[in-house]
Amino acid sequence: MRKFGFIIHPLSYDDVLRYEPKAAGKGTPLIRKILEWMPAYVVSEVTGVRSRTGEEIMGYFIGVPLMPDQFLELPRAEVMDRIIRGANIAAELGCGIVGLGGFTAVVGDGGPTVAENTTIAVTSGNSYTIAAAMQSLFRGAREMDVDLQTAHAVVIGATGSIGSACARILADKVAHVTLAARNATRLGKLTHAMQPHVRAKLGWTVDIPDAVRHADLVLTATAATSSVVEPEDLKAGAVVCEVSLPHDVSRRVATERDDVLVTEGGNIKVPGDVDFHFDFGLPPKTSLACMAETMILTLENRMVNYSLGRGVNLDKVLEIERLAEKHGFEVAGMRAFDKEVTPEMIVRTRERARAARIAETEAAGVALP
Ligand SMILES: NC(=O)c1ccc[n+]([C@@H]2O[C@H](COP(=O)([O-])OP(=O)(O)OC[C@H]3O[C@@H](n4cnc5c(N)ncnc54)[C@H](OP(=O)(O)O)[C@@H]3O)[C@@H](O)[C@H]2O)c1
Repeated sequence: MRKFGFIIHPLSYDDVLRYEPKAAGKGTPLIRKILEWMPAYVVSEVTGVRSRTGEEIMGYFIGVPLMPDQFLELPRAEVMDRIIRGANIAAELGCGIVGLGGFTAVVGDGGPTVAENTTIAVTSGNSYTIAAAMQSLFRGAREMDVDLQTAHAVVIGATGSIGSACARILADKVAHVTLAARNATRLGKLTHAMQPHVRAKLGWTVDIPDAVRHADLVLTATAATSSVVEPEDLKAGAVVCEVSLPHDVSRRVATERDDVLVTEGGNIKVPGDVDFHFDFGLPPKTSLACMAETMILTLENRMVNYSLGRGVNLDKVLEIERLAEKHGFEVAGMRAFDKEVTPEMIVRTRERARAARIAETEAAGVALP
């Protein structure tokens, strides 16, 4: 049976306890130190991934157990060595391809160096993540009656691998797209390069709260390690699609803004009777899109480097979307803040948004002389 490997890491201290319950009660500094010492290891076996074509595969989750900020702060060469070791464990287990999860695809050059240092194929999984994020955002827009033709969207993390591709796709569907991140030079260059090829009017900013304030659609795909979208910045009725892991949207949004729809953008229902033998915080039979891409390529026997580096080929986004359909992968039900978003919640959010907009209009009317 063909096999895949997928590299994972904890995103938070709660995750560390899921990986290693014995860590409970140990202080954060000690846990961080232990993680720094821990080499890559096999976390679990993934069984029961079965395509609707009848093909079945298996795989392994391989842990490179560092926290997101450790990936960014520890010496680059040391971090890359650990990720390469993780990829080589997959090779030793007989896998034909290894996927790079979370920050293992963000650090360094986003895959090419790992690919050069292992004998098997490598993918970041970003092509299917982009396809899934777009499907999730547009589903949210339909649910909240956002008219794409006139909508204003903001992509946060717009110069990144996922963000830039999402911005490009969005810019042919909506009226305005604001590209947001921290580096002004990169944002300016990207905006200038993209504008002649798209329908939307583009803008860019490093002032993320200001951009969010004007947006009907918000897509977040940053490599930030703390929240960048706060409840006070969101427009009533906005749809927020969250691709980043760890999440970019403040948890305060869950309790303080019942008039905006937040949805995780990269959750996929896996065909077959899949068992990950590991709880990474999603419902049963549900994976991240980057994991799903690695599975789809294995089912297709496409043991080639697929999504690598900072630039994403939009043809691959379309191709992997088609292959996902062929094998029976689909975007999972809406979810946000570790919970399902039910149809009743969506109806309530839509009503609250309508009420908030009416209140805003009335307030603006009263203020007029
Ligand atoms: N859900 C899934 O299935 C899935 C799959 C793959 C990846 N991901 C997640 O998607 C995110 C993006 O991945 P990627 O590969 O596209 O990363 P990337 O290529 O490194 O891009 C990151 C982007 O975020 C911006 N950024 C970084 N820190 C920021 C901050 N503090 N505030 C605002 N912007 C910031 C960067 O620009 P500046 O440096 O100029 O700010 C850049 O535009 C990561 O969180 C990753 O874990 C999720």
